[in-house]
Amino acid sequence: MRFYEEKDYDALSQRAANIIAAQIILKPDCVLGLATGSSPVGTYKNLVAKYENGDLDFSQVKTANLDEYKGLTRDNDQSYYYFMHQNLFDHVNIDPANTNIPDGTKDDSEAECAHYEDVIASLGGVDLQLLGLGHNGHIGFNEPASEFPQATHCVDLQESTIEANKRFFASADDVPRQAYTMGIGTIMRAKKILLVVSGQDKADIVARAFFGPVTPEVPASILQFHPDVTIVGDQAAFSKIPH
Ligand code: F6R
Repeated sequence: MRFYEEKDYDALSQRAANIIAAQIILKPDCVLGLATGSSPVGTYKNLVAKYENGDLDFSQVKTANLDEYKGLTRDNDQSYYYFMHQNLFDHVNIDPANTNIPDGTKDDSEAECAHYEDVIASLGGVDLQLLGLGHNGHIGFNEPASEFPQATHCVDLQESTIEANKRFFASADDVPRQAYTMGIGTIMRAKKILLVVSGQDKADIVARAFFGPVTPEVPASILQFHPDVTIVGDQAAFSKIPH
């Protein structure tokens, strides 16, 4: 695992965007696995700036997002579809036909999840998967459990995740109770992984996930077994790891 400690959120966002830009430059038709949440917002801003400066071309890039709330329509401003368009897709020259996000409006969870795995396989797999880190160690919506879920599946969100995400909704009651998410197996099959994390409130989970035992109780800990992981964090998030 490679750790880049940056002084603050702006610096970590620049670093993460540089790593993604390098991937696009080296392989213009690469497949990017993308994440939502607050952690990658700055990374996307920097990628948009690079596109606007003429330094990046997204015309052949393909994407597959990690997850989506089940039950939210695409025009709901809390859907991850909406988020991706607001933060990245609408501001760069990506072909919308090349972007993929689980469809939260599909009721048949098994069919939608199997379809999403097929989509990723048909893209030839993910070259670089961007991740954030939940306070309980979740990646995507893979919550602490007794085993690592393999493929894309439908999850019941845990109270702590509903609590953490309610800031984006009118109230906790409005947070969807289920989501579609890539499985741990899906994530681990990405050729490279880039995780962005910031803030003192993530310091404990960074230490547990990357310096503690590998256990499905801390889903992100599995990344210790991936051959090509880069963690980009700020000083606060890295304040409890060995230096
Ligand atoms: C987002 C996702 C989640 C977030 C995690 C951290 O697509 O899958 O795992 O990455 O909840 O969220 P933030 O960055 O808001 O702290």
